Amino acid sequence: MQKSKSINISKATRYQNAAIDYYMGLTGSSYLHYGYWEIIPTMGEELTLTHLRAAQAAYATKLFSFIPEGIKTVLDVGCGIGGNAKSLCERGFSVEGLAPDTIQKEKFIQNTNGKIPFYLTTFENFQSSHSYDLVLFSESSQYMSVEDLAQGAARLLNSGSYLLIADMMRFDAEYKAGIFSNCHIANELHAALEKAGFKLITSEDISQSIAPTIDLCLTNFRTFGLTTFKYIADVVKIAVPPVHSIGSWAFKRWLEKPIAEGLAARQIFDNHLCYQIQLWQLST
Ligand SMILES: C[S@@+](CC[C@H](N)C(=O)[O-])C[C@H]1O[C@@H](n2cnc3c(N)ncnc32)[C@H](O)[C@@H]1O
Repeated sequence: MQKSKSINISKATRYQNAAIDYYMGLTGSSYLHYGYWEIIPTMGEELTLTHLRAAQAAYATKLFSFIPEGIKTVLDVGCGIGGNAKSLCERGFSVEGLAPDTIQKEKFIQNTNGKIPFYLTTFENFQSSHSYDLVLFSESSQYMSVEDLAQGAARLLNSGSYLLIADMMRFDAEYKAGIFSNCHIANELHAALEKAGFKLITSEDISQSIAPTIDLCLTNFRTFGLTTFKYIADVVKIAVPPVHSIGSWAFKRWLEKPIAEGLAARQIFDNHLCYQIQLWQLST
């Protein structure tokens, strides 16, 4: 089992990690992905965590439907806390997972009953003595450069083997700063994969089927997060007014802008991003 070397994490990725932690607490599930809403909720329909958990299970089924016949071994890159790896294992695949996060490692081992090998490392630093039939990036492609992804995957696969990517991507190359700006520009990812010898076999845009999860997180954040925050601020204002004054200043200085941006996440997604599942094959 490898040890992670020192990891340089960009600010955008740190925002994403904070969002992952929030999401983990919110869903209480073993998946860290957006899920796949088979029925798109209507305007004004209540979005519940029960619906989200169903969407997360449906996502695994949807994602795995892209796995070609004959695949036996899978490397789950950025495996999170084990939801996908466990489901793959239950479907008869031989799986290994990696992620550069000790909290995820603990939960992964718990959720998979210690039956699936876990490597605590970034993909960029991962070394393996054997190759895989398929390398999976389920919402983890955005955390590394397109070159590292493409060349790293090509190294771990034999000719004719597969790479399966499911993630948010930027269709708008001009969207360069903000919460989703670490997602790859779709054309750049495509070019890097072709350069590394991959051929696109199939792809599907599932943007509309993941978007309700963004709405659900925002509703919960507005309803529970912000109202709780405001209640605490009100209590502090009554009990310790000077602390409230400093807090208000700090809020305006550091928090107001990222919170406003977070609340606009759905519009940002609709205007600049898409969500695709892509199956690639390493050329023979
Ligand atoms: C949004 S979570 C997705 C987790 C899981 N694949 C799923 O679908 O539920 C992103 C995952 O990518 C991992 N990750 C972040 N940077 C990475 C890197 N450089 N190499 C490999 N994994 C990385 C995170 O630790 C996390 O496990």
